Amino acid sequence: MLNSYFLSLYFILVYVNNYLKGYDSIVNFFQEEIKKLKKKGLYRTLNVIESAQGPIVKSGGRDFLLFSSNNYLGLANHPELKKAAKEAIDKYGVGTGASRLISGNMALHKELEDEITKFKETEAALLFTSGYMVNVSVISALTDRDDVVIIDKLCHASIVDGCRLSKAKLQIYPHNDINALEKILKRNINKIKKLIVTEGVFSMQGSISSLPEILFLAKKYKALILLDDAHATGILGNKGRGTCEYFDIKDESIIQMGTFSKALGSLGGFIAGSKSIINYLRNKTRSFIYSTALPPAVLATSIKALEIIKNNPELRGELWKKVGCLKNKLKELGYNILNSPSQIIPIIIGDNEKVLKFSKFLYEKGIFIPAIRTPTVSKGTERLRVTIMSNHKEDDLNYLLNVLSDLKRVGLVL
Ligand SMILES: Cc1ncc(COP(=O)(O)O)c(C=O)c1O
Repeated sequence: MLNSYFLSLYFILVYVNNYLKGYDSIVNFFQEEIKKLKKKGLYRTLNVIESAQGPIVKSGGRDFLLFSSNNYLGLANHPELKKAAKEAIDKYGVGTGASRLISGNMALHKELEDEITKFKETEAALLFTSGYMVNVSVISALTDRDDVVIIDKLCHASIVDGCRLSKAKLQIYPHNDINALEKILKRNINKIKKLIVTEGVFSMQGSISSLPEILFLAKKYKALILLDDAHATGILGNKGRGTCEYFDIKDESIIQMGTFSKALGSLGGFIAGSKSIINYLRNKTRSFIYSTALPPAVLATSIKALEIIKNNPELRGELWKKVGCLKNKLKELGYNILNSPSQIIPIIIGDNEKVLKFSKFLYEKGIFIPAIRTPTVSKGTERLRVTIMSNHKEDDLNYLLNVLSDLKRVGLVL
């Protein structure tokens, strides 16, 4: 009798204790996690930009030279893009009110899809609300349980998230390692579909994909390629069409993904490829089917951006000239920039705390280059990711180089 009394009391006390402990810890759990992030130098905060995107931006009432934007061609504040957006609002309003398969499909969606089809020299194209939305849902739409998705180790988080949603087996090969890729293809020869995913220009490394070799293997093993051309569209190739133009490749086993949010200065993602694949994706991709269509101002901006890119090759010329000059000078200063062949220039610092201090040093001198830390890049490769815009002035670059030269001198004692 006494025993069962104590036993019940014990259980009640355990219950109350767990209840309180549980409640307490759930309240404090996230606070503790934040403390851990801060301790590791991984806590992230937002800087507010109070002006349009351009070589100089205002933040906290101060002017900063911006060297970390993907607005490579300076189109995000281009007068013709702004005019196109305003005209589209006057004609079509601001919202689309539904997904495209319901009633949100407007003439501008078709026009932009036609333009991107021509630009990418494919049979068809399909729009999405962002590049992230493309990767996160196209991979799972293309693959299933009996398939394999094979990705480069340095692929973007949106590709990794797309793989997480897919039921297919995931295989990862070391960056641009074609032998390793072939071994994986061989091991998975019996899988029904094999999807290889690579970036054209790798977003944090600046390296360019070994697309011709990947295509050779894709043909040999009857695989599809999903090419993420987010950072190559508008940039690589004589006409800025991207990685396929750069390597002079046209092949229906390559599905090109891209975004309007970088060199094109706008917003939204797309897939371009063969008619059958685009028709299939229009029917199967959940982020296309279940999300409201891109609004008119954004569509008109992207259409205008494509026109400007086609008609103004000198924008790319300016960018490459400045990129080449900056890379040479950074090498002379002794910075490790991983021999990047593209417009993305990583300066490897190799430590979370240190890269934060470097970024702060630059910030205090009026230069905006946030620190890139783990998990965005792997441990030991923390970096400053430097990008320039074709409308940066020579003086802007000289100032950056002077400050980076000072940073090199004080770097070890920061
Ligand atoms: C390689 C790569 N793919 C996809 C995306 C996503 O594109 P968006 O910004 O249009 O969502 C990004 C953006 O950072 C990227 O760098």
